[in-house]
Amino acid sequence: MAARGVVVALLLLIFLARTCYGTVLFSSLKRTIDVTASSTQGQVLKAGIDKITVTWVLNKTVATGTDSAYKTINLKLCYAPISQKDRAWRKTDDKLARDKTCQQDIVTRTYEASNGIAQSFQWVIQRDVPTATYFVRAYAHDSNDVEVGYGQTTDAKKSINLFEIQAISGRHVSLDICSICFSTFSVVSLLVFFYIEKKREKPRNE
Ligand SMILES: *[C@@H]1O[C@H](CO)[C@@H](O)[C@H](O)[C@H]1NC(C)=O
Repeated sequence: MAARGVVVALLLLIFLARTCYGTVLFSSLKRTIDVTASSTQGQVLKAGIDKITVTWVLNKTVATGTDSAYKTINLKLCYAPISQKDRAWRKTDDKLARDKTCQQDIVTRTYEASNGIAQSFQWVIQRDVPTATYFVRAYAHDSNDVEVGYGQTTDAKKSINLFEIQAISGRHVSLDICSICFSTFSVVSLLVFFYIEKKREKPRNE
């Protein structure tokens, strides 16, 4: 009984801790990291095929010294406003725990205090990335895995340096058509088979 109480208390504590960490507001984060991507404004990239190189470096004018708390860098693919319109499931929320702007993880790396030397990562756009307009954002996390800084490839209004990703849908469509054709074919051939059988049986019975 006592053990159970301890477990419940622990779970409650974990839950509370999570909720506390969950209250990080995006507007409270400083834009301390300069993030650039190889993609150009309006470029159309194909999911599953094309690559994107993301480069990040500490912005010295705003952040000298503040990166001593940075432990990891988390790169994310984020929906541009045009791809969030009328889509509640991609909605931006200042509370990061509820924010749905950046749903696709690119990578999480250990943060290297690099004295102004940029780091980069090349990513093959995953096949399951939906067709939309995007930008890239980087979150710096501290040792508690809490967001403490950020950077992004676009401006504050998310209006420049946006790129498009096109999902590979052509193949799925043709697969669907194929399967419809085959199932229609099998139903029709079954009917034809029964019809022939029936016709065969009749004369014998007479
Ligand atoms: C660093 O931050 C300042 C202030 O936000 C900005 O004006 C500047 O363009 C940034 N540096 C780079 C290289 O982006």
